[in-house]
Amino acid sequence: MEVFTSISALRIFLDKCRATNQQIGLVPTMGALHDGHVSLVKAAREQVQIVVCSIFINPIQFNNKEDLDKYPRTLDQDCEALERAGCSAVFAPSADEMYSTPPELKMHFGNLETVMEGASRPGHFNGVGIVVSRLFNIVQPHYAYFGQKDLQQVAVINRLVRDLAFSLQLVACPTLRETDGLAMSSRNARLNADERALAPFIYQVLTEAKKQLLNGCEISRVIDFAKEQFGTKDAFKLDYFEAADATTLQPIRQLGSEGTNAICAAVYLGAVRLIDNIVF
Ligand code: PAF
Repeated sequence: MEVFTSISALRIFLDKCRATNQQIGLVPTMGALHDGHVSLVKAAREQVQIVVCSIFINPIQFNNKEDLDKYPRTLDQDCEALERAGCSAVFAPSADEMYSTPPELKMHFGNLETVMEGASRPGHFNGVGIVVSRLFNIVQPHYAYFGQKDLQQVAVINRLVRDLAFSLQLVACPTLRETDGLAMSSRNARLNADERALAPFIYQVLTEAKKQLLNGCEISRVIDFAKEQFGTKDAFKLDYFEAADATTLQPIRQLGSEGTNAICAAVYLGAVRLIDNIVF
């Protein structure tokens, strides 16, 4: 496995791969890799010959400086995990390399960013859109792999690919969970032991909410129920709990057909903000 920090060296490597007709898959990450990321690399391995994993903590997608400062940085362990997973190349640029010219462009995603993560984290999807566009232009992958835990991010990147005519296919991979149901996330490493023990409650509430919705309960009542549940535990501060269309992310008043509905939650557990969702 090759490790690149410079855009030009990565491009030379990838040009050679393309010259021998090898297909390229990109797994964009911010590092602190867990089995969820590894599953993206493995999904890529099944489709393409060359898997590039980018590791870049993108400063412009953080609207909270503490969150950026405390984001776990584990490059050596990440590279070991990637090598074991069969990754071909790691791209780990510095901020100066990635943003040699600070981007002045602003990206807007219409209705997609007026709800949930977009509403709670102003500027977040602008930062995601810019860095992902840069990565797509640098790597020019045939496929790009993202986790469905970040459902709204997948929707935003789908819009980006469509509107800017990127010539690649997005692959959204299922959320991986710990045995107690907690969605795998790099932020889980920041939970203390008490918070970690409480964290599976998020998925329990989502699961119960899904059950109630499928039993025909009114959506507004189910959302109230979920809010009450988080209210019973002091350690949690609920940011949002929404029932939405799984593609447009707009709130829904009644369920659509199977696979088109999503319930999504964002919760502070101590100082750590966690998100999760179920599509059904
Ligand atoms: O999901 C992430 O880790 C990041 O938002 C991404 C897609 C790597 C862009 O920085």
